[in-house]
Amino acid sequence: MKEKFYITTPIYYPSAKLTIGNCYTTIICDAIARFKKLQGKDVFYMTGTDEHGQKVFEAAQKAGKEVKQHLDDIVADTQQLWKMLDIDYDKFIRTTDEDHVCAVKKIFNTLYEKGYIYKATYKGLYCLPCEAFWTPSQLVDGKCPDCGREVCEQEEEAYFFKLSQFGDKLLKLYADNPKFLLPTSRVNEMVNNFIKPGLEDLCVSRTSVKWGIPVDFDPKHTIYVWIDALSNYLTGLGYMSQDESKFQKYWPADLHLIGKDIVRFHAIIWPAILMALDLPLPKQIFGHGWLMLGGDKLSKSKKTETVECTDPRILVPRYGSDAVRYYLLREIPFGSDGNYSTEAFLNRFNSDLCNNFGNLVSRTFSMLKKYFNSEIPAVESYGENEKQLQSRVLQERDKVLHYMQTYDVSKAVASIFNIFSEANTFIQLAQPWAVAKQEDGQQQLKAIMRSLLETIRIGCELLEPFMPNSAKKVLAALGQSDKEFSDFDKFEKLKPGEKIAQLSILFPRLDVAKELEELSKLV
Ligand code: MSP
Repeated sequence: MKEKFYITTPIYYPSAKLTIGNCYTTIICDAIARFKKLQGKDVFYMTGTDEHGQKVFEAAQKAGKEVKQHLDDIVADTQQLWKMLDIDYDKFIRTTDEDHVCAVKKIFNTLYEKGYIYKATYKGLYCLPCEAFWTPSQLVDGKCPDCGREVCEQEEEAYFFKLSQFGDKLLKLYADNPKFLLPTSRVNEMVNNFIKPGLEDLCVSRTSVKWGIPVDFDPKHTIYVWIDALSNYLTGLGYMSQDESKFQKYWPADLHLIGKDIVRFHAIIWPAILMALDLPLPKQIFGHGWLMLGGDKLSKSKKTETVECTDPRILVPRYGSDAVRYYLLREIPFGSDGNYSTEAFLNRFNSDLCNNFGNLVSRTFSMLKKYFNSEIPAVESYGENEKQLQSRVLQERDKVLHYMQTYDVSKAVASIFNIFSEANTFIQLAQPWAVAKQEDGQQQLKAIMRSLLETIRIGCELLEPFMPNSAKKVLAALGQSDKEFSDFDKFEKLKPGEKIAQLSILFPRLDVAKELEELSKLV
């Protein structure tokens, strides 16, 4: 039986304006999910939308729409965006789904019955027009951060979750499972900033927020959005529904991948809720860094005015989803922040995708056409140069597998591109055009071309989870459409005598200055 792997993104707040920064979590999860599938795992990848709360309600009013209609429109739009980016999820959960609503009510009831939830009074600074409570630190110049008006002290009846009881259990959890929360710097943050100063009980219901899931036994209260939202990881698998088979099969999650801004909710509140429910904890939470908008907006050196373009709906149709995926996966280093600039994106497109990968494929394919009428050659023996290439490729392949064990996606992608660089260097070294002119060069030429083709095959097999479109295109041209990783050790997987299909150019070279100018007209 296949080993299971359950991976999740956070569920997104409904927004019609998702930037490529927002897309990062979903793309990285997709790449990991695809990689695990190729490794033969039974993967369940879930994403979705977080649709309750006052802000959502207000946004719908502002748009002059019924809340559900407003949400349906945004969700359809989000799903279309994920399709555009080749996000291959297994389930898209919406917190307005009936079975989710039903299960969240049951989760709340269970926590109440077990004595983890109690009723008390919530005291806070309240903004009447905004109907929102604020903490002193959230205020701007002592006033409401949303509307700038005066706030007043107010009390509201509310339910509380006994989070204060979980401090020691959480400390033990982190100590016993050093890989529970990664990168480790985030553990220190949780321990020093939140747990050691003492956890307070958490207010988990509101009477002033109407757009939410009502408490079953006290419906004038709606359930706190984070309890509602975090529960999606269980309810999406059918927890507390008629059919819990997926929950039985996939829970606990193997990986909750989230941005660093929401680590506290996932590493403190979520495990505490699960402990209270007596459920196994997720195996790992990874808090990735952010894509920052850095650099100047004016590219003075080129004397053209440029505006940063972060809209995937402009970038993907123009440059392809693989290019956007590649940039994000490569550019944000493991667990840290990465900077975005449109110019850097375009430069990487030219240097890595066009010059390195694309060029290698087109050079190799056209040489094969010229020398062997596009037929994969059979090889009797390999020379020193080829053997050296093969061992370098295998080294990089091992690195990719190693990095992916710890989800170090940017290094894994860099290693795959090292494979293509190695092959380009090999071409310069082996000089197939010169060998082709030698009378007794046929065997050597075959060894060179075969080594290049097998290198491209291995590179593309590894690349498929990250850049599915172009990798699949190349693999299909090579007659390879295997679903799982094969053993890469042999440079002999391709079938000699088979003809490879011709490919159109994968990544046409861009005129960066021209593109920047065009893009600035579109944003
Ligand atoms: N709804 C909550 C999550 C609830 S999960 C139980 C939420 N939604 S969000 O839409 O604001 O964020 C979704 C994801 O996008 C988060 O992982 C967040 O960190 C990520 N990002 C948003 N902007 C980002 C960047 N600029 N860069 C990288 N990731 C970013 O939080």
